[in-house]
Amino acid sequence: MFSPGAERQIAERQVAERLARAGCIAAEEEAAVLVGEAPDGATLETWVTRRERGEPPVWIVGWVEFLGRRVRVDPGVYVPRAQSEELAERAAGVLPERGRAADLCTGSGALAAHLMSARPAATVVATDVDPRAVRCARANGVTAAVADLDAGLRSGAFDVVCAVTPYVPSPELHLLPADVLRYEPRHALDGGRDGLDVIRRVVVGAARLLRPGGWLVTEIGGDQDGPAGELLAAAGFGGPTFWWDGDGDLRGVAARLEGRS
Ligand SMILES: C[S@@+](CC[C@H](N)C(=O)[O-])C[C@H]1O[C@@H](n2cnc3c(N)ncnc32)[C@H](O)[C@@H]1O
Repeated sequence: MFSPGAERQIAERQVAERLARAGCIAAEEEAAVLVGEAPDGATLETWVTRRERGEPPVWIVGWVEFLGRRVRVDPGVYVPRAQSEELAERAAGVLPERGRAADLCTGSGALAAHLMSARPAATVVATDVDPRAVRCARANGVTAAVADLDAGLRSGAFDVVCAVTPYVPSPELHLLPADVLRYEPRHALDGGRDGLDVIRRVVVGAARLLRPGGWLVTEIGGDQDGPAGELLAAAGFGGPTFWWDGDGDLRGVAARLEGRS
């Protein structure tokens, strides 16, 4: 709507002031995106009102940048987080050029789309229980099916399984930002009593899907490294590598299915 210039700067300042009053932490950055993406003034007004009510800005504009690529994210679908980018890169790093990968709990398909881009000759498939997520992943070019984790996927056929599961312990859900709790789907966040309900099943499913020597790369957090290490060892995975972000927060684990590769 606005080309760069004084008029756009004024619009951004006005929108930033409204968003800041509504409690948005990154008001200026969000204002720049809303003003930059809105096709006309009426749409901008609707978008700003939606944001003032707390709706995720990514749902409003319809996309998020993930590892330098625009990923479509439809309303109701979990918004891919920057914290998952390292996981996607690690998964791509262990996927052979012509290998096979399964992205369980794919959501918008952001991780699968990165694998497809990093390894164009590889085969990448994805699952999610939520039909809205699967539609969104397909719109992002991902071969996705509505399925419970690994259901319907072939045993021993994959080199890499990756998953960003719901892994927030139920008793800690209330600690999430109010907007996340109000808008993002609970089945994308709630990992049960200790946060590991879905991960437990992912580990077992991955042990079935992977060829010996294949990799499981999955997101975990909090103090889940101990229990996740035990789950992995019990399912036949060796040498788990955990990683933490710059703030010292646990972000994920990669482990290799033992046996001859
Ligand atoms: C935290 S979101 C992650 C989405 C995506 N991987 C990302 O990083 O943006 C978790 C996703 O898991 C899906 N999910 C929850 N339980 C599932 C299950 N049993 N099988 C498949 N998908 C599941 C949810 O619908 C949601 O899309």
